[in-house]
Amino acid sequence: MKRIGVFVGSTPLPLSELAPFGDRSTPWGEAAALPARHAVGGHELVFLKRHGENHEFAPHQINYRANIWLMHALGLDGVIGTYTVGSVDPELDVGQLVVPTQIVDYTWGRAHTFDDELRHIDFTSPYDDGLRRGLLMDETEVVDGGVYGATQGPRLESAAEIVRLSRDGCTLVGMTGMPEAALARELDLPFAALCLIVNPAAGVSNAPLDLDEMKVIAAAGAERIVDLLRRAVSRF
Ligand code: HPA
Repeated sequence: MKRIGVFVGSTPLPLSELAPFGDRSTPWGEAAALPARHAVGGHELVFLKRHGENHEFAPHQINYRANIWLMHALGLDGVIGTYTVGSVDPELDVGQLVVPTQIVDYTWGRAHTFDDELRHIDFTSPYDDGLRRGLLMDETEVVDGGVYGATQGPRLESAAEIVRLSRDGCTLVGMTGMPEAALARELDLPFAALCLIVNPAAGVSNAPLDLDEMKVIAAAGAERIVDLLRRAVSRF
């Protein structure tokens, strides 16, 4: 039996029928929300809304340490972070799902380590290979690979900032991918990312960014993400 945690982001996954359980408190403060279990053919997905029950925490306000600690304390086999992102690479399309391989971190001022004393971790490959393969196996419509640029938010980027991200090798941009991936690594908790593209990043297309349209695309992708996770859980 596999038990896999899932961080839910700005994509409103259809979870209302799942009963929350447990306790939000951790040694690092309160996690954003109570986790909720979803049984899938003898396996289990454990969802946690990283922005809070009612999306009350902006990306820079999230207690990433408490969220990751709670998942770790549940003794899960791994965690998938789901994200809505903008595409920096013009070859990528809105609506596509992407499982990235790399991260460039532009965030600042977030509590990004559990260690008061200096301890280095190997972050050469930020994401777990086994979880990535599970997400990609038999999934022809999911893009394999990419570089997630994590920005501070909550504002979107300027066009020049996206040019810089592109020069740095980023293909995707989002606001919540870090520090949760690094915190998971500190706890040796296998972690991977599943990204839904909801807009071309600033300046990537000629059209202005449409925030309402981004929400519509995010909502439209919700069922696909849950279906993919249901299929993938037995492969992890
Ligand atoms: N930039 C940063 N975060 C995002 C974007 C974006 O364009 N789209 C969705 N999340």
